[in-house]
Amino acid sequence: MIWLVIALLLALFLYWLLVITEGAYLGPRVVAWLYDLSARRYDAVKQFDLNDENYFLALPLLRALNHVPVPRVLDVATGTARLPVALLRKPDFQGRVVGLDLSRQMLALAQRKARRYGLRLHLIQQDAALLPFADNTFDAVTCVEALEFLANPRHALQEMTRVLRPGGVLLVTNRVNWEARLMPGKAFSNLQMRALLESLGLRQIIIQRWQVCYDLVWARKPEERY
Ligand SMILES: C[S@@+](CC[C@H](N)C(=O)[O-])C[C@H]1O[C@@H](n2cnc3c(N)ncnc32)[C@H](O)[C@@H]1O
Repeated sequence: MIWLVIALLLALFLYWLLVITEGAYLGPRVVAWLYDLSARRYDAVKQFDLNDENYFLALPLLRALNHVPVPRVLDVATGTARLPVALLRKPDFQGRVVGLDLSRQMLALAQRKARRYGLRLHLIQQDAALLPFADNTFDAVTCVEALEFLANPRHALQEMTRVLRPGGVLLVTNRVNWEARLMPGKAFSNLQMRALLESLGLRQIIIQRWQVCYDLVWARKPEERY
């Protein structure tokens, strides 16, 4: 009987480690490997609604960037190019997007989906822990449904802020509700998120409910004063 209980607990632990938290506590290579394995099913499982993507992601981003004629956007953990496609399909968006992800298979699908946008989308296989860009490069940096899978979300936010230009906009998602409780140390309360972003020098922080288990978090990097 005791062995049965131990086996059940072990199975539950493995399920939490590999399925619920998608390998987030085992390091970036494991997360990327799991995404490589499931990439083909990703879009079918997620069933993104183009109208929702437009309303909650593309339109507010366009509004935030309306003073920049040719915006440069970095989408961290871009997956199958959900956010780049939402943005690039808008005729009003004249800019370019860099999509960064560690999973080769997710990027292969992103490449296929976004082929029609040619050089306006540039995909890079890279760990989000170290963004290979100079300080103050992008007009917007985004990270959708991914912060909690990164080895160190705080450090990742610091990197995203570093490559954001003064005046630029940051958009990230934060896990909330019961799903956040299943990922200790990977999600933030609203107070923690605000304090963290402020400590990174970000301002105009807006946190809004998006999905049952995700908030959208918007912030601006202040213009430099001389
Ligand atoms: C839930 S998906 C979200 C993808 C996309 N942003 C979206 O909204 O559909 C999480 C993504 O994070 C990527 N990812 C996980 N850890 C990463 C890391 N350390 N560096 C870069 N990408 C990572 C995964 O490969 C996967 O594509």
